[in-house]
Amino acid sequence: MKQYQVGVVGATGMVGQRFVSLLAEHPWFHLAVVAASPRSAGKTYEEAVGSRWAMPAPMPEQVKGMVVMDASQVEQVAAKVDFVFCAVDMKKDEIRALEERYAKAECPVVSNNSAHRFTPDVPMVVPEINPEHLEIIAAQRKRLGTKKGFVAVKSNCSLQSYVPALHPLKDEFGLSRVLVCTYQAISGAGKTFATWPEMVDNCIPYIGGEEEKSEQEPLKLWGKVEGDAIVPATAPSITAQCLRIPVSDGHMAAVFMSFDKKPSKEEILARWVGFEGEAQRLALPSAPKHFLHYFEEADRPQTKLDRNLENGMAVSIGRLRPDTQYDYKFVCLSHNTLRGAAGGGVLLAELLAAKGYFDCPFHVI
Ligand SMILES: NC(=O)c1ccc[n+]([C@@H]2O[C@H](COP(=O)([O-])OP(=O)(O)OC[C@H]3O[C@@H](n4cnc5c(N)ncnc54)[C@H](OP(=O)(O)O)[C@@H]3O)[C@@H](O)[C@H]2O)c1
Repeated sequence: MKQYQVGVVGATGMVGQRFVSLLAEHPWFHLAVVAASPRSAGKTYEEAVGSRWAMPAPMPEQVKGMVVMDASQVEQVAAKVDFVFCAVDMKKDEIRALEERYAKAECPVVSNNSAHRFTPDVPMVVPEINPEHLEIIAAQRKRLGTKKGFVAVKSNCSLQSYVPALHPLKDEFGLSRVLVCTYQAISGAGKTFATWPEMVDNCIPYIGGEEEKSEQEPLKLWGKVEGDAIVPATAPSITAQCLRIPVSDGHMAAVFMSFDKKPSKEEILARWVGFEGEAQRLALPSAPKHFLHYFEEADRPQTKLDRNLENGMAVSIGRLRPDTQYDYKFVCLSHNTLRGAAGGGVLLAELLAAKGYFDCPFHVI
């Protein structure tokens, strides 16, 4: 595979630090640019991040001395890279505009931000679930007037555990109703216990905007490309409550589900254990060997024990059993800043690279 030069926009933040850590050892992607706000621009990466480094492993040596670029200097950043990852904390309309500026500078954007998730011609992709949505990029390029540039996004971290678990059951058994409660780690808010001490021994029953994302984004993931847009699915109906809990990393979900054609417990387990998506078929470098793992033990998955399964890229499921109101209930877990954020972004970029979306057939650049 060709080596791609890549940039991280928002490299100093929580998700940006994950990107920097994952890219330090990546076989296809070479980290060429780190960019952030004007507050960080001109400083070395080490100075700009300072005491904010929140990763379990030390900052990679090769990035420490890199000079942070100003993310708003789009042409200068775009000239140095084949594409960028983007994870910035800005207003939604500013993020939308910034990402489109990169795309129009013929620099594809793989985004962790929510700003473009509901733009009808922007694919929101989990490689194991809806890789066919990348087809919409042709329509987006037409709208933007680009030959190479586009924006592709990954979905919200809250749903990265339960949507993969529901996906292999959805069509075959007619998934009709879903109720989910999520228990979400503080790193999902870009925080640690040092920067958010109020979360020690505490639970906050509100995460702004999260319940809407948890209910609506799955329907776009399960939608269809029709003409110049991705048309969201109309089923299942999903209702969600999202709680912030005192855990550093790892989002857990308690899920209830009903079907038109109720499967047996054995049929559900067989679909989970045997599930393989495009990421596994293409053997993408960051793909887990088995996306879905089922634990037989009654007290698993546990956040601390299981969040790093397959480098934090797999989904752990447990406690499948019949329910009195719904057909079945279960719990599931995924790492929110790995599979749920930067790792999911890197995997999406690997899929785009494998399918040639970062290569310009017309050599316009
Ligand atoms: N944390 C998660 O688990 C998670 C999961 C999925 C998606 N996300 C999304 O990812 C994005 C980043 O989240 P985060 O948790 O990494 O936030 P964060 O830790 O607050 O980091 C924010 C980043 O944005 C940069 N930034 C702020 N204002 C900017 C500006 N005007 N121009 C350019 N860069 C600017 C910051 O640079 P400076 O250091 O220079 O200020 C920093 O690099 C958000 O949209 C979030 O919703 C987060």
